[in-house]
Amino acid sequence: MNCAKNKLAIVGVGHVGSAVLNCALSFNLAADIALIDIIEKKAIGEALDASHGTPFTYSPNVHIHAGGYEECKDAKVIIVAAGPSILPGEKTDRLLLADRNVQVIKDVMTAITQYTKDAIIIIITNPLDITLYCAQNLFGYPRHKVFGTGTTLETARLRRILANKYAVDPKNVHGYMLGEHGNSAFPAWSLVNVAGIPSDRLDEYFQPAEPLDREKTAAEVVSVAYDVLNFKGCTNSGIAMVACRLARSVLFNEGSIFPVSTTLKGDYGLSQVALSLPCQITATGVTRRLNVPLPAAEKEKLHKSAASISQVLRSVGL
Ligand code: 2OP
Repeated sequence: MNCAKNKLAIVGVGHVGSAVLNCALSFNLAADIALIDIIEKKAIGEALDASHGTPFTYSPNVHIHAGGYEECKDAKVIIVAAGPSILPGEKTDRLLLADRNVQVIKDVMTAITQYTKDAIIIIITNPLDITLYCAQNLFGYPRHKVFGTGTTLETARLRRILANKYAVDPKNVHGYMLGEHGNSAFPAWSLVNVAGIPSDRLDEYFQPAEPLDREKTAAEVVSVAYDVLNFKGCTNSGIAMVACRLARSVLFNEGSIFPVSTTLKGDYGLSQVALSLPCQITATGVTRRLNVPLPAAEKEKLHKSAASISQVLRSVGL
């Protein structure tokens, strides 16, 4: 694995950005990692702290440092985790952050575009589909070079839940959560399988203690984020792994397929909205968005998810 020329910039090093940093180091993603934060001291401190782990990393001379947006100039990948996250609470919804974080993303994109239109930008900031739409449509940045982590995180949660249920490796659980990164995300059960065995035959093959309850599982995938939030005050480990896995697909030109958020252009009859569909990710960003075959009921769920995202997009003037 040769990462000698790769530079990664992380914008925003709060609990999510700092987890991305640690993950990037353990994934051996880059030889040069720049940390950008409005609180410069925070970026300096994170860089110093992480540097003390480098005697144990695969590339011990990885250069980790704080800096300004000029660091984006030669970055191959920029991961944006700026802005406040949702807080623990009963009625939590990522969409409530829209007003505040659209402004944050406008500021971040204005600054990044002063220095580059080459880097692949991966957005994490919530509400993800809203901030991604803003970043992808308002700054003249090449469209295929910007995408959001989207429902790759929900998909990982679904894979974990089904792997526990059927006592298999989550890597053998295939399929996608689609739509909003948030409360209207849904599993495309028609595509879910373990080792090619479709979801409606899994109980027969694996004989779990309880039969699969699709609605309960779908609800659990969404609500488990709030469990994490209420238990530990934030979510950061899962999303950091997701962002670094997506960055790896870019940096190693893998062509892997993940459900990431992009602006739709007539897909399933939807446009002027961003949400997650399976997309192929290479060194040039999103090279293909797959309009996978979905039955009518799942298309309807996709449309419902799109409607709730659109409503918020229009309410913030996007
Ligand atoms: C998550 O799902 C809060 O969007 C964050 O972990």
